[in-house]
Amino acid sequence: MRVALLTGGGDCPGLNAVIYAAVRKGINHYGDEFIGFLNGWKGVLENQWMPLDLKAIDGIQLKGGTVLHSSRTNVKKIPGGIDKVRDVLKQNKVDALIALGGDDTQSVTLALTDAGIPGVGVPKTIDNDINGTDATFGFDTAVSIATEAIDRLHTTADSHNRVMVVEVMGRDAGWIAYAAGTAGGAHVTLVPERPIDIDHVCKLLKYNYDNGKHYGIVVVAEGCHLPEGGQVIGSAEVDSFGHARLSGIGEALADLIEKKTGFETRSVNLGHTQRGGVPSAFDRILGQRYGLHAIDMVHEQKWGRIAVLKGTDITDITIKEAISCNRRLDQRFFDVLSDLESKV
Ligand code: F6P
Repeated sequence: MRVALLTGGGDCPGLNAVIYAAVRKGINHYGDEFIGFLNGWKGVLENQWMPLDLKAIDGIQLKGGTVLHSSRTNVKKIPGGIDKVRDVLKQNKVDALIALGGDDTQSVTLALTDAGIPGVGVPKTIDNDINGTDATFGFDTAVSIATEAIDRLHTTADSHNRVMVVEVMGRDAGWIAYAAGTAGGAHVTLVPERPIDIDHVCKLLKYNYDNGKHYGIVVVAEGCHLPEGGQVIGSAEVDSFGHARLSGIGEALADLIEKKTGFETRSVNLGHTQRGGVPSAFDRILGQRYGLHAIDMVHEQKWGRIAVLKGTDITDITIKEAISCNRRLDQRFFDVLSDLESKV
């Protein structure tokens, strides 16, 4: 078969591991040929691609980012977009498509497969919030980076008797905040799934000061809502899927905490450092397992399905189910956070 791959949406450590494994197994086991469309769906619409042979993928599983580059392009919004994709695939004699991406990218894969174009998906996001899968590659790396940053902030916060507010990614779900906050010994962790109780946050910080710890670490997910005023938007522009750029809740919260407690407070936004650099060993392994399953799905003609991790097994579900909602933290995780907080 002649198979095309593409990566859409924000980049994510482990994308290259997926590409590596799918291409390697496809060539060695099934005798497939591969091309990689560049810049996500944009590259399909513009017929821009690179050949993916064993030489092209040599060693890429160790690297961060995506060798195919990425974009946020919504084919569904472009008049005639689906037909254009069909034409480009036909022109390049592509028998099947493997799309690596989050819910936006996969909403396009679904529209294409509904229109009879053979395709499967691989879930991708550092936010770890895709419905139906227990873990997405990239999350482990992001948590390690955020945890290391929080570790470092303890000593500087302590030295200056300050509160440090650390903003991490997590648009709809607080998985990174939960994991890095817990691993990094944050005194307060705030996630989008729960409203911020600013009085409780200040009470926790004051309790620590009163009990000998003259500094505080607050971890906040970018998607949290301010007690008054909603989410904090970094730019008025929205992407082609209608999402605004979230950024700045850490700074806003730091101001509020300083005003309410009188403690000197600073904020740090970890931003895209969480997505950059080499994938962790866990993400390299998970990414490769997703890639191996994706090429098997192609040969089993599982169109409209997406690879997922269930427990320790890689299997697949419909893309429709995967994008029907976000996987969010629930009471079990809130309990862990509450149990680790000081009792005030
Ligand atoms: O991939 C999801 C995500 O990491 C979100 O947490 C964040 O809001 C968004 O990407 C940022 O994307 P961009 O690279 O477009 O700024």
